[in-house]
Amino acid sequence: MTMRITPSILNADLADLSGEIARIPSADGVHVDVMDNHFVPNMTFGLPVVECIRANTTAFLDIHLMIAEVDRWAPAFADAGCESVTFHVESSHAPIKLARELRSLGARAAMALKPATPIEPYADMLGELDMVLLMTVEPGFGGQKFLDLVLPKIRRTRALIEATGGEIWLQVDGGVSVETIERCAEAGADTFVAGSAVYSAADPDAMVIALREQAIGACAH
Ligand code: DX5
Ligand code: ZN
Repeated sequence: MTMRITPSILNADLADLSGEIARIPSADGVHVDVMDNHFVPNMTFGLPVVECIRANTTAFLDIHLMIAEVDRWAPAFADAGCESVTFHVESSHAPIKLARELRSLGARAAMALKPATPIEPYADMLGELDMVLLMTVEPGFGGQKFLDLVLPKIRRTRALIEATGGEIWLQVDGGVSVETIERCAEAGADTFVAGSAVYSAADPDAMVIALREQAIGACAH
């Protein structure tokens, strides 16, 4: 199984995003947390900033939208040339329509679930998705403690993905570090967001490589 590390720039130096992205050449993508202070109690950056990031890097951009009215805003991020756009199912009024719209604009369509949101109601729409993101903290802030209670949901989601027979990535986000990544990989995750673990490391790129090796090792067991 391919294991992907997509570091979050949330806790990087936001005044030097290009420089911070350049510090992680081994990453499989750059995870960008868009927050609007309505869906989550925090505010980060919006479409204009993402457009500037897009203009300054060829890296795979993994956009995580934590915003209200996501049906209205998400297509613009696909239009801007972001490779993957993730919407929260708790915020979308028409997730199937939105997933199809994102794909039609050339982006990978991804759906995120907060820790207390079950996957089962969405089992029949997995074929519309390129990735499922399971939050392993309550969304809003970096540096929070990993929630072990999400592990069974990772297992159940992996089983549902296998049952669809499609190529759907399973991403985890929140508190992922050298302490927790093996548990996530064993449970079936294959794509890992790590924010503070990567950007608080002395050598962020070495941390990306170490995390990937750990995930591969855990999966081989
Ligand atoms: C939280 C964000 C995460 C966050 C992860 O709402 O979605 O992407 O940056 O940060 P860490 O890895 O520090 O938990
Ligand atoms: Zn995120």
